Amino acid sequence: MTIATALRQGEQLLAEGGVAAPRLTAEVLLAHAMGCGRAYFYGHPEQELTQIQWLHFGRYLHERLRGKPSQYITCRQEFYGRPFRVTQAVMIPRPETEHLVETAIRLGRRAATVVDAGCGSGAIAVTLQLELRTRVLATDISAEALAVASENARRLAAAIDFLRCDLVSAVADASVDLLVSNPPYVPLTEKDALQREVRDWEPPVALFGGPEGLDFYRRLAAEGARILRPGGWLMVEMGIRQLQPIREMLGTDWTEVRVSDDLAGLPRVLAARLPGR
Ligand SMILES: C[S@@+](CC[C@H](N)C(=O)[O-])C[C@H]1O[C@@H](n2cnc3c(N)ncnc32)[C@H](O)[C@@H]1O
Repeated sequence: MTIATALRQGEQLLAEGGVAAPRLTAEVLLAHAMGCGRAYFYGHPEQELTQIQWLHFGRYLHERLRGKPSQYITCRQEFYGRPFRVTQAVMIPRPETEHLVETAIRLGRRAATVVDAGCGSGAIAVTLQLELRTRVLATDISAEALAVASENARRLAAAIDFLRCDLVSAVADASVDLLVSNPPYVPLTEKDALQREVRDWEPPVALFGGPEGLDFYRRLAAEGARILRPGGWLMVEMGIRQLQPIREMLGTDWTEVRVSDDLAGLPRVLAARLPGR
């Protein structure tokens, strides 16, 4: 079996199984099975696969056809140009979340202490520590997620203090300049409508934010006002139709509120500032 034939057959199987981007997916899975980059295939289409490579590729195709996301098969996802390790203990970092990071980099240039609440793989915390070179604390309720995040921090040489706690309960009052969070925000009522790759494979603790998906925003507004220093920023990623209710729950504690859209033109990031300074 040559690389070219394996890719053709893999692509066909994936297409028949209704998997999106079947050619790209076949290439990603074969590259993982062979321990090479996808570019290698273009120079070596007639190379024969070893039996082990073929067996691995077959297993990965089978897993993908059962709905397992490619990232959980390869244990890898790029975020902000860096490779992050992902396991099923963490949500796969999404490109939309890079908007949150960009806003935090813009508004957090002078931040001495940054907190990432619900750090998952550590994508946000690690990126902000490396870009801002500031003190970063990252929390999560899941010990398994924190293990993945601290491994990512170690591999990417980011200095982060990890705390296992409920949201920011272990963070001292008025000690933080920037509180960033991409909290679980899928409404429980939308569970059945989720893609199977998300619903059946990503950790529920990372997805659901109560009946309307708003539970964590309510808590972040209250706890943000407690842990932020005067003039500090709260920054959150939002789901669709969540901007208005989040604005309402912020109340009058915040002076400035800024909203930025994602590439699809949907309001994706909200930043709110405490009065002071
Ligand atoms: C939507 S994921 C975001 C992960 C990561 N920050 C990212 O953007 O890819 C939400 C994260 O919040 C964590 N989480 C859920 N409930 C929590 C709580 N009560 N306290 C702290 N973290 C929590 C989950 O374990 C998950 O890692």
